[in-house]
Amino acid sequence: MGNIRLDKYLADMGIGSRSEVKNFIRKGTVTVNGKIEKSPECKISPTADEVCYNKEKISYLEYEYYMFHKPSGCVSATEDKIHRTVLDYIDTKRKDLFPVGRLDRDTEGLLFITNDGNLAHALLSPKRHVEKTYYARIRGRVTASHQEAFRQGLDIGDEKKTLPAELNILSSDDISVITVSITEGRYHQVKRMFEAVGKEVIYLKRLSMGGICLDKTLLPGAYRRLTEEELAKLKKQE
Ligand code: URA
Repeated sequence: MGNIRLDKYLADMGIGSRSEVKNFIRKGTVTVNGKIEKSPECKISPTADEVCYNKEKISYLEYEYYMFHKPSGCVSATEDKIHRTVLDYIDTKRKDLFPVGRLDRDTEGLLFITNDGNLAHALLSPKRHVEKTYYARIRGRVTASHQEAFRQGLDIGDEKKTLPAELNILSSDDISVITVSITEGRYHQVKRMFEAVGKEVIYLKRLSMGGICLDKTLLPGAYRRLTEEELAKLKKQE
């Protein structure tokens, strides 16, 4: 990556707002390669220069990538007046993170959080058909005829039918348990697909996206950084 201004470097790393870090720099609390630097405009090479704030080394991370287990009740947004957002769960001062796509407020499960717009775009682009798998509990019996209907694609009230979806029945009873894999991301898609066959989703959780599974050790509300391997797999979608 190219050189960036010292104030942006520190603000990106969550040291403070752009105007706060300008003040910190002018007060002489920041060194570049061991020398006090009082100019916020000073150009920094994130790979070659060493920047310290209050004597603590601040490394620059251009992009960050997290796997988050979204709990029910949390909204897939960066700001909300009433509900907790995904960012309320991530312990970082970084201001540019956002969720990759949306899960409904009552849906749980896998959500990626990043500041990498290109990757987010690739994962969400309708042209890429990134696969998402959900686990759900459905009121009433789910049968082979529903599987066939999902395989054919369903009219959910949009201009076009949904693409074929793979429905697996784990158990079929008064409450059925299923997994379903879809390759689109339409609004309330899974709920609307079941509605189209006269069924109601009573619990929904995303298990995987783009071949990356939700880490089973992450409880709802917990998160971790993506591993190098997971990131490489996701980047193949770009
Ligand atoms: N489909 C839904 O209906 N809701 C979600 O949150 C995700 C997929």
